[in-house]
Amino acid sequence: MPQSISKGDWIMLYSPGRIEMVLVSGDTKKIPGLGVINTDRFTEKSYGDKIKLGRNSYCILKPSLRHAPEGIKRGPQIVQPFMCELIAHMADISCGDAVVEGGAGTGMLSAALLRRVGENGRLYTYELRDEFLNLAESNITSLGLRGSWRPKVGDITKDVEEGNINAFIVDIPDPWEAIDMAVEALTGGGAFVAYVPTMNQLECVYNGLEEHVFTDINCREILDREMVVTQGGVRPSFQGLGHHGYAVRGTKSIDTL
Ligand SMILES: C[S@@+](CC[C@H](N)C(=O)[O-])C[C@H]1O[C@@H](n2cnc3c(N)ncnc32)[C@H](O)[C@@H]1O
Repeated sequence: MPQSISKGDWIMLYSPGRIEMVLVSGDTKKIPGLGVINTDRFTEKSYGDKIKLGRNSYCILKPSLRHAPEGIKRGPQIVQPFMCELIAHMADISCGDAVVEGGAGTGMLSAALLRRVGENGRLYTYELRDEFLNLAESNITSLGLRGSWRPKVGDITKDVEEGNINAFIVDIPDPWEAIDMAVEALTGGGAFVAYVPTMNQLECVYNGLEEHVFTDINCREILDREMVVTQGGVRPSFQGLGHHGYAVRGTKSIDTL
């Protein structure tokens, strides 16, 4: 049964090499290269339908995290969507969980965490800079994930107010500085996960977790290679390094011995 598009929905227009996120507001919208489009046109369509805009045809899709980096407004370096999934997996986040995160940056990791916690969960994101919180908010809204998000201007290493948190996730330059705060905020059995671009940071976080009440400490390197498939020639893409970063995790234990 095709799912129709309603006023108020965010949609993603996809054609190879081009992504546009559009709010179906009922108003007209100017899209660079495509001209002025009356967004009411989309309410006659269903997800998966193709539509001709300008000289190109576009497939109308729900906003996808996989393609989000091509469609969102850019700011600080994002965590790539597949890495976000690994981070959420390492934190063992499920529907309905309460999660604390720092910093928001462009909002990519926040979006992935919001999708995991779902409508009944909560994501409290601390970000030092107002302008990045606003950027993240605009991107998260265009991905249709604003509902469970509780953004806060603040320092994740000092200002966290929540308790009984299931997971504490950090993508900041000095994640080991947030470990004390995580110990206070996490429930027993809750997970701390840091995403870091260098091994030196990884080592600092690992040592910090070992010095605290954490158990099941584990580090992963995150690699990714696209495969290019052509007739008679299948090979890894020449684009990109393949290396993205490291994630380090630990579980909060409570010493009752
Ligand atoms: C690399 S960006 C995060 C990118 C984000 N994970 C994403 O996928 O879009 C790092 C962010 O952390 C923020 N930040 C740095 N130190 C912080 C702290 N102590 N508390 C809260 N935010 C912090 C920075 O302002 C910046 O926006």
